[in-house]
Amino acid sequence: MARIVIGADHAGLEFKTFLSARIKDLGHFLEDVGAAPGTERADYPLIAREAARAILSGRFDLGVLVCGTGIGMAVAANRFSGIRAAVCENEVSARFSRTHNDANILCLGARIIGPELALSVTEVFLAHSFLGGRHRERVRMIDPPEGAV
Ligand code: RB5
Repeated sequence: MARIVIGADHAGLEFKTFLSARIKDLGHFLEDVGAAPGTERADYPLIAREAARAILSGRFDLGVLVCGTGIGMAVAANRFSGIRAAVCENEVSARFSRTHNDANILCLGARIIGPELALSVTEVFLAHSFLGGRHRERVRMIDPPEGAV
């Protein structure tokens, strides 16, 4: 069971509703940071910021963010040190983003992939864990601890 934060801009709202039901069915704790259903315009940088802060606070383990392409959410979320947001359009990317990159936010593009693929990608992302080892050394190079080279 993971603590998951989910968010979407206007382009990702239907996916968010669809994915939320399944994530809850899987037994995860889920919190929605918006946008509300029916919102005509929601700006992805603001939703990504909410999700990034929620994870960095320690209250959540993982995030799922949906926009038109997934790219805007990923670019915005990755501005936060400690966030590793990955756009995944297939299950292989989802698996390796967790096992090798320790991605803590999955970004999906509702204008790129269909809802069933998005669901499958999300399930794979949530089902895998970071392998650590040499991958941890590499991830530490992305966000070196204070004082490290
Ligand atoms: C919104 O129209 C669109 O630009 C946004 O959802 C996303 O695709 C940006 O990356």
